[in-house]
Amino acid sequence: MRIALVAGARPNFVKIAPLLRSLKRHSEFSTSVVHTGQHYDDLMSASFFRDLGIADPDFNLAVGSGSHAAQTGRVMIAFDELLDEVAFDLVIVVGDVNSTLACSLVAIKRGVPVAHVEAGLRSNDWLMPEEINRVLTDAVSALLLTPSRDADENLIREGRSENDIYFVGNVMVDTLLRFREKTAERRGLMDRFGLRERGFALLTLHRPGNVDLPEVLREIMSAVVEISRDIPVIYPAHPRSRARMKRVGVADIIAGATNLQIIDPLPYLDFLALERWAGFVMTDSGGVQEETTVLGVPCLTLRDNTERPITITQGTNKLVGTARSAIVNAARTALSDHARPSAPLPELWDGSASERIASVLAGESERILNHERTTSRP
Ligand code: UD1
Ligand code: UDP
Repeated sequence: MRIALVAGARPNFVKIAPLLRSLKRHSEFSTSVVHTGQHYDDLMSASFFRDLGIADPDFNLAVGSGSHAAQTGRVMIAFDELLDEVAFDLVIVVGDVNSTLACSLVAIKRGVPVAHVEAGLRSNDWLMPEEINRVLTDAVSALLLTPSRDADENLIREGRSENDIYFVGNVMVDTLLRFREKTAERRGLMDRFGLRERGFALLTLHRPGNVDLPEVLREIMSAVVEISRDIPVIYPAHPRSRARMKRVGVADIIAGATNLQIIDPLPYLDFLALERWAGFVMTDSGGVQEETTVLGVPCLTLRDNTERPITITQGTNKLVGTARSAIVNAARTALSDHARPSAPLPELWDGSASERIASVLAGESERILNHERTTSRP
């Protein structure tokens, strides 16, 4: 069975690494990595391939940045041309980025079945581009591979058949558990940034709802500056956020905030090390909500909703919103509460999700090779 494993953006690389390893263990699969080129800076792309020990992609569509329409359209055209050249039997997509949706649409229209890894997550917030990508990708996917039971329930509620849904666990956690101990070699990082274990807060921000709206961005940054008076804050800034901070002008807010370090995005292992050693994390990232749950590090999510509710009910995550006072209060609570959460990990977040996915695909090979695109139209 010839498989295209699609990845385009930073979190996708973390998800395909264990999948690639597991698929390679099955001799009946021949897997090619297709990088769409949605992310392209070394620190957003190639550094992940190096850290995670993945070979260079077999195909790079090099689409780059653009509006949603331009980026999605460019991926669609380039992937369609690739499918003219290579006859894949299955396209595997991960996550919820524009590349995920674009390649799913191309595949289904050409009669190639799609398997979606991380299917079924829902924020129910249609202002998030990712929510649109999730719902539409799931709608065209024949195999829905879910990370949590709530995702299964969402899909059933949308009318999908249980026959299409496989609860397999979380592939991002496969990567985390594999590399967690490697962070021990990176203690020098804390010296580099003048940080002490548990004595700093780590920040990431990149959701358009937070960084593209000037008033929201300024509100969040003023909360962060206030928090940095109590604890050092380190902020590896996503290129989108760096550009927005420049355009909106936050210099007046961060002027004099000597305890706030805004740095370039970090490669995966460095970031994981800081995540592990942080006193708490503030973020709007999906993956970081999951990783902090597994690491047992308190996470304040600067959003009003999450598509990953299990990180709240069974993890360390708290939805804090984006109001300055709410963020500052939540940080003060995190600072004064020294108990480390120690709940059991969510079901099947055990490092073997990718193995289960490979087994599902092996078991479904007849259906895939018959190009049955989907069995349960809602
Ligand atoms: C994308 C995903 C988002 C995911 C995030 C992970 C969509 C709709 N969004 O958001 O779901 O959480 O990736 O990080 O797919 N840029 C660079 N260098 C790069 C990549 C991007 O400078 O290597 C800059 C460009 O100015 C670009 C902007 O970042 O316009 C946004 O990049 P884009 O991939 O469109 O969206 P993200 O915000 O990264
Ligand atoms: N990450 C990283 N360096 C950083 C910020 C994040 O390696 O500077 C990793 C993080 O550990 C997680 C993934 O990138 O594995 C999350 O990606 P991101 O937050 O960009 O996307 P999302 O998960 O929100 O889609």
